[in-house]
Amino acid sequence: MSPIIEARNLTKSYGNFLAVKNLNFSIQTNECFGILGPNGAGKTTTLKMLYGTSPLSKGDLFIMGMNARKNLKTIKKEIGVVSQDNGLDPDFTVLDNLIVYGRYFRMKSHEAKRKAKELLRFMHLDNYMDMPVESLSGGMKRRLTIARALMTDPKILFLDEPTTGLDPQARLWIWENLLNLKRKGVTLVLTTHYMEEAEYLCDRLFIIDKGDILCEGVPSDLIRSTIGSEVVEFHVEMNDLEYHLKKIRDRFDYQIFNNRIRLFVPINQQAKDIISEVTSDNIVVRRASLDDVFLKVAGYDPTSSMGDLL
Ligand SMILES: Nc1ncnc2c1ncn2[C@@H]1O[C@H](COP(=O)(O)OP(=O)(O)OP(=O)(O)O)[C@@H](O)[C@H]1O
Ligand SMILES: [Mg+2]
Repeated sequence: MSPIIEARNLTKSYGNFLAVKNLNFSIQTNECFGILGPNGAGKTTTLKMLYGTSPLSKGDLFIMGMNARKNLKTIKKEIGVVSQDNGLDPDFTVLDNLIVYGRYFRMKSHEAKRKAKELLRFMHLDNYMDMPVESLSGGMKRRLTIARALMTDPKILFLDEPTTGLDPQARLWIWENLLNLKRKGVTLVLTTHYMEEAEYLCDRLFIIDKGDILCEGVPSDLIRSTIGSEVVEFHVEMNDLEYHLKKIRDRFDYQIFNNRIRLFVPINQQAKDIISEVTSDNIVVRRASLDDVFLKVAGYDPTSSMGDLL
């Protein structure tokens, strides 16, 4: 089956600065595809090119078989966008934000109203219909932005950090709704900083940094191939570091964050065989995760204030 999105040498430059460099990837119909990467990696820039608000500097893009350079108007009718900033109109009520959007896409007035009310029910916002947008909480605004993107029954929904800043319950609720949309046949393309979100939602993903794709694949495959099965993490005194490294250096893949060693257990081995060799009273064994993949390929720990990876 031909891909619903195909990017060839997708490139974006701002003056002399290359924000996105020669990306080649394709996305299949009904996939949930994730774009991951640290701040400033090029996620939003890539997504904006895919949904047609940022012209390609170089390369080719095909959406639903159509050349995005030539058929942007037709393509825009078939896609929905949840941008990083909600972009809601503060002058309108919750309901009117959706209706005005629908009218922009030439929906008949009564049809836009019917659809808007249906979507507000779907997003559990029907009680806020007549409220000004500014009275909504951050999570509600996010839900409204998703509702707005669904007004035109898009075949592809692009979401730039759909759940950033939301509490865990609101996040889970949005995940369930996105999976519902996927079940209905919508193709999802999203960016996220939450590895758990990517593992939960994405069939495939790539990690991008400084405009380059660092790795690409099915999350579970990436975890197995990049990290292994488990991670053994333990604290060492700096004086003992060399002693520990001597034992593991040639046998295991590992990372060091300040005083902690993260040792990746290959899939054909077990953590318990390794623990016996580690002399530390602070050992944690856990399942390898997409977080580990991210840290390994993107090279630093964004959650750590401690900084550099040795
Ligand atoms: N309009 C612009 N003009 C100049 N440089 C830009 C512009 N938009 C983005 N950039 C630069 O391009 C790079 C990629 O930015 P982008 O917004 O795509 O990152 P991101 O991965 O979405 O980051 P974040 O996780 O913070 O949202 C950054 O270095 C950014 O400063
Ligand atoms: Mg961004």
